[in-house]
Amino acid sequence: MKVLVTGGLGYIGSHTVVELLEDNYEVVVVDNLSNSSIDVYDKIKTITGKDFVFYEEDVCNEDKLDEIFAKEKVDSVIHFAGYKAVGESCEKPLMYYENNLMSTISLVKCMQRHGVKSIVFSSSATVYGSPEKLPIEEDFPLSTTNPYGTTKLFIEHILTDVCNADNTFSAIMLRYFNPIGAHKSGLIGENPKGIPNNLMPYIVRVADKQLKELSVFGNDYDTHDGTGVRDYIHVVDLAKGHLKAIEKAAKSSGAKFYNLGTGTGYSVLDLVETFKKVNNVDVPYKIVGRRPGDIAACYADPKLALEELGWKAELGIEEMCRDSYNYILKQKEK
Ligand code: NAD
Ligand code: UD1
Repeated sequence: MKVLVTGGLGYIGSHTVVELLEDNYEVVVVDNLSNSSIDVYDKIKTITGKDFVFYEEDVCNEDKLDEIFAKEKVDSVIHFAGYKAVGESCEKPLMYYENNLMSTISLVKCMQRHGVKSIVFSSSATVYGSPEKLPIEEDFPLSTTNPYGTTKLFIEHILTDVCNADNTFSAIMLRYFNPIGAHKSGLIGENPKGIPNNLMPYIVRVADKQLKELSVFGNDYDTHDGTGVRDYIHVVDLAKGHLKAIEKAAKSSGAKFYNLGTGTGYSVLDLVETFKKVNNVDVPYKIVGRRPGDIAACYADPKLALEELGWKAELGIEEMCRDSYNYILKQKEK
């Protein structure tokens, strides 16, 4: 099977391309490098010993994308390309609506024109807004609190409508919880530009003494130690979920939604303490006020993905902490 992967040189995309190649899929990546680097192309080839086709193109450019579909004759699509920073989406909402929605529309138009009937889409647990109950199940009410989240919800609606209009079309929305970790080789991982917003990239830089201390956003939540609880998932487990999803999408039709999480919540301090222990480093922190828009706790009920995709997270919080730090140490060796 030949799979077109948009955003395939990004953090989650690159790990998924590795798993696809290792499972003998043929892969075509389209990425405009707006948030990734061409080095990742070589690193994926080093890890897997396999080659794949790469186009440096914007997925919003429908004419170029159409040429790629005509040439490559892919069987299915995994759509990672998009912008993902919540804060930036509040400052530049149109940029987010334009890139995330237009890339999806141009992609699906090309799929329709070339008879490609299955897509797996990167959605997010952010579509559950502030959940009333935990763990979160797929049929919980949906709402969003920022433009980034709204783009994810809109795209879920768009793909559902496309499935409703064509009963041979298949769309699987994967709602990721909090991806962290890196490939065990340390060659690919997440290294955001500037000061990180998310917890793990921040912890890693404090451990590496690039930043002085972590600010823990609130210790007065209704959680076991007062700090925010999240469902952290190893990016390699997440990547494997995409292989299960494309298999399912190829064999079925209609719109389907799956949580990809471990089902276990860890607090900010749980993560800090585990990170210190497994990596034998210090992570100084101070408690500060809550971050606006944060919720106390968020974790998945992952049983639908197990029942219908045969997927379950295998790696634990210790591997996530070890691999996140290993990636940064390996980056410094260059
Ligand atoms: P990333 O920024 O590392 O990867 C996205 C890739 O898409 C980048 O390589 C970027 O260059 C590319 N891209 C962006 N717009 C493009 C366009 N118009 N045309 C071609 N390429 C384009 O992000 P990631 O963490 O790997 O996330 C992948 C997807 O998963 C995104 O859609 C994101 O919203 C979603 N997601 C991520 C998280 C997370 O915590 N990382 C959580 C939930 C959902
Ligand atoms: C954030 C986004 C979410 C997005 C997800 C993955 C917000 C409000 N939410 O989720 O939409 O899908 O990233 O990209 O931005 N924390 C600290 N100190 C820090 C950073 C974080 O204490 O410096 C805490 C947070 O308060 C939270 C936890 O760590 O309790 C995890 O934060 P983060 O990694 O940013 O992820 P989310 O907030 O879950």
